[in-house]
Amino acid sequence: MQIGVCYYPEQWPRTMWADDARRMAELGISHVRIAEFAWSRMEPRAGEYDWTWLDDAIETLAAQGLKIVLGTPTASPPKWLVERDPEMLPVRADGTRWNYGSRRHYDIASETYRKECIRITKAMAQRYGRHPAVVAWQTDNELGCHDTVPSYSPAAQRRFQAWLQQRHGSVESLNTAWGNVFWSMEYPAFESIGLPMLTPTDANPSHLLDFRRYMSDEVASFHREQADVLRRHAPGVDVLHNFMGFFTTFDHYRFAADKAIDVATWDSYPIARTEVIGLPEADKARYARTAHPDVSAFDHDRYRAIGGGRFWVMEQQAGPVNWAPWNPVPAPGMVRLWAYEAFAHGAELVSYFRWRQCPYAQEQMHSGLNLPNNELSPGGKEVARAAQEIAQSEVLRTLAAPVRAPVALVFDYETQWMFEIQRHGAGFDYQTLAFEYYRALREQGLDIDIVSRHADLSHYRLVVVPSLAVIDDAFVDQIERSDAQWVFGPRSGSRTADFAIPGTLPPGALQRVLPLQVLEVESLRPTLAPALSVGDVHGTALHWREHVRANPGAHVHAEFADGWAALLSHGRVHYVAAWLTHDLHRTVLSDAARAAGLTLQSLPEGLRLARRGGLTFAFNFGEARAIAPAPANAQFVLGEASLGTGDVCAWRDPQ
Ligand code: GAL
Repeated sequence: MQIGVCYYPEQWPRTMWADDARRMAELGISHVRIAEFAWSRMEPRAGEYDWTWLDDAIETLAAQGLKIVLGTPTASPPKWLVERDPEMLPVRADGTRWNYGSRRHYDIASETYRKECIRITKAMAQRYGRHPAVVAWQTDNELGCHDTVPSYSPAAQRRFQAWLQQRHGSVESLNTAWGNVFWSMEYPAFESIGLPMLTPTDANPSHLLDFRRYMSDEVASFHREQADVLRRHAPGVDVLHNFMGFFTTFDHYRFAADKAIDVATWDSYPIARTEVIGLPEADKARYARTAHPDVSAFDHDRYRAIGGGRFWVMEQQAGPVNWAPWNPVPAPGMVRLWAYEAFAHGAELVSYFRWRQCPYAQEQMHSGLNLPNNELSPGGKEVARAAQEIAQSEVLRTLAAPVRAPVALVFDYETQWMFEIQRHGAGFDYQTLAFEYYRALREQGLDIDIVSRHADLSHYRLVVVPSLAVIDDAFVDQIERSDAQWVFGPRSGSRTADFAIPGTLPPGALQRVLPLQVLEVESLRPTLAPALSVGDVHGTALHWREHVRANPGAHVHAEFADGWAALLSHGRVHYVAAWLTHDLHRTVLSDAARAAGLTLQSLPEGLRLARRGGLTFAFNFGEARAIAPAPANAQFVLGEASLGTGDVCAWRDPQ
């Protein structure tokens, strides 16, 4: 459990650095991330490096025993570079180019820009790669932020064509795979294939899907080019990238494959995130100052798997931020709580953004651990408290890594892309559905691993698949081999890998273990809400429903009032034929969890549990005081069972 901070020495007079470093160490900070936006200071003119300031900054921090995470500065190319190569500015879907004057103004497909990135990374790594205080390297910053993954430049078009050739072999196979006979969309050659932009109506969904796969691979290869340089010149230190919350534009499992990163890190802004995701207004209002209790946990559990068990929070909200529609001050306690929450979900390090609020430029209204006048902010005081508690507790300092959770939730990036490409109904968003399943389980005290469809699922007792667009035989083999309970949500198995409806109808290959067929699907405007009851819980379908035929062997557990099947199963495999109201999801998932032999808790509103290293942590995000469900003889290592808003406690599980 270590605490870090993001620091920008280039934004402050040098006379402040030594005092900053001393105060960081005093506060209990162990890691400092620097340099990720400082290209214009590292190389003020083409080929003229100025390392003196960075040398000093590193030495000043190292002198206080601080460990340094160095960022490559490629998210903010300097003006001289843009002037020399204006083609490196990104082209948007409407054909216009973005301008210089903020950040992330580069085309990820630009080969000249990629060369520049390799060059500056190499120059940095040659200078600092073996510095004893530099313990990790971050590539770029938040790849894809500000909608910068898709690129519609001529360079992107050329690289897309090459990517398609690699995937499809011949243009005839591509025409067949995409169904290009439809509307005379057939291509004579790979060189004639354009980017899916500026078409009068929808582009071919298979074209869009391959474009998204291609762009996702571009993000991964952009990182990998830098990672390769770092591995050569900075051997033995962690290479990482800081991912974002609720972000699905590239496939993070593919990004992280083959040891491309040593640890997954992500940037957690829970209150702002709560404002911008598809939650009901009542939840946004209830949790406006604490953030929704599952918003951070969802990404902690996702990035833990992406990092192969190792994850950090690289940027943690430390007070009000500047980028959501509304940016309230967090409730007292939350800045401390978020650190413990991340640790309980397995984080090794929680690093706050940022050391001091910057009084100028774009992020003036973004808090830090210090106010612009250098006084510790309210969030800074909470971090000092957490750091002190950890320093004084042998148990917290030496907490073991998390072990496998009993429940797996399969999360799939391609499913997100496919349902974005053919949403069919305005309210249908796959990630929101996945989050809905996740929170229904978390509300009942369960620990969850969020994993890829390619993960080994054989050790879980309950596997939840909110949806999975493409289900292949290998996935069904996993179901056959396991003895877990499996729950599938709507639209599972609804497409082939080429984006067509399976010949046997959805759910495609899943029919091997679940004898049913989806005959028709409907998206639902808010006034269409087919009703159903499961036991004594009543609710409706929302956004989406399927008309399903139960084939011999399938058992129908619940029907909509108009007679269509809502819940079906065959043995351990269950199918939910609609997006349901929350209480119904909770009921369906708790029935499956009980069938899997799991113990459920009925937690007060806003209370959540997480288990790590023989401890159970409880967090109160709710408005009311709540009592954590600790056993009577529990031995507390942090706090106590009675929790006000923003409080946390942890106890040792009785042997
Ligand atoms: C992140 C970004 C940081 C900072 C922060 C503000 O997305 O990585 O550089 O802009 O947001 O919340």
